[in-house]
Amino acid sequence: MHSDFQHWIDANLDSQKGKTILITGGNSGIGYYAALGLAKVGADVIIAGRNAERIEQAVRDIQAEDIAGSVEGGIIDLASLESVQEYANQFQTKYSRLDVLINNAGIMMPPADTTEDGLESQFGVNFIGHFALTGRLYGLLKSTSGTRVVTLSSIAHRGAEIDFDNLRLEKPYDTVREYYQSKLADIIFALELGHRADAKGDDVLSVACHPGFTKTELQRHVDPALLTKFTFMDTWQGALPTIVAATGDVKSGDYFGPDGPGEMGGFPALGVIDSAALDAAVADRLWAVGEDVTGISYP
Ligand SMILES: NC(=O)c1ccc[n+]([C@@H]2O[C@H](COP(=O)([O-])OP(=O)(O)OC[C@H]3O[C@@H](n4cnc5c(N)ncnc54)[C@H](OP(=O)(O)O)[C@@H]3O)[C@@H](O)[C@H]2O)c1
Repeated sequence: MHSDFQHWIDANLDSQKGKTILITGGNSGIGYYAALGLAKVGADVIIAGRNAERIEQAVRDIQAEDIAGSVEGGIIDLASLESVQEYANQFQTKYSRLDVLINNAGIMMPPADTTEDGLESQFGVNFIGHFALTGRLYGLLKSTSGTRVVTLSSIAHRGAEIDFDNLRLEKPYDTVREYYQSKLADIIFALELGHRADAKGDDVLSVACHPGFTKTELQRHVDPALLTKFTFMDTWQGALPTIVAATGDVKSGDYFGPDGPGEMGGFPALGVIDSAALDAAVADRLWAVGEDVTGISYP
């Protein structure tokens, strides 16, 4: 493990002993390093992903590190609402508490495709899958005291738009526009969840974060020549805003990202939320879409 990561952990993190933390997409990239960092300070971490082999390998890799907590795996495909429901059911049978849910898994700019439920795949995986998972686990979150939901957005939310007439690939596919839409949906979800939990008096915080530009497998569908034009942080550093959102002294509506120019690199600080994410009418409509598509009303 990178020694700078260990130094940052030693300098910044309190013990998370006794906390159960679920991270989607925890087998690679930011999710992996967030899981490792949190397990190092004592959390019982569950990494859930779609590929059993990759999940098992990541569990073994984290167990091989010097961790004070534990790590286990779980199988969920966020591109299938049936899989999300199955996994949420299994999770509640196995675990009696959930302190932190980290909605991390994501895809970026893949070839045009739809999820099992007919949604454009980036919108379906990045947003709807997590809307469903959070909703299915909301009862468990509510029954655990001092819980929080952390949702990964992106600088890409800035200036993006939710096109309610193009959530099911109705229009000619635009890889970039659809990715931006999905990450805007993620931050709107994080903010709206916080408002709704507050309004009901639920002991659940909702926080957003983003990793600036971080080298991970997310860029697998991007032309390598284009990638050379950007400077990427090491993966461990990109996980720091997530770790701060999951463990820090936060309030609902906080949004953490790197503190450097344009929030592209650096160390965790509060980031700027674009006005695109603050339209209450869009948030209400997006929430209604989430409920309609998933059949879930948050308790
Ligand atoms: N890296 C960046 O610069 C950057 C910038 C802004 C935002 N983000 C956000 O950060 C988050 C983490 O991405 P990353 O950069 O760490 O990329 P990554 O290395 O590709 O990790 C993404 C994870 O999500 C999992 N995943 C993808 N589709 C899934 C599905 N249908 N069901 C369950 N799991 C699925 C992947 O599983 P497999 O291993 O099986 O593919 C992988 O574990 C994403 O939400 C991304 O949008 C990243």
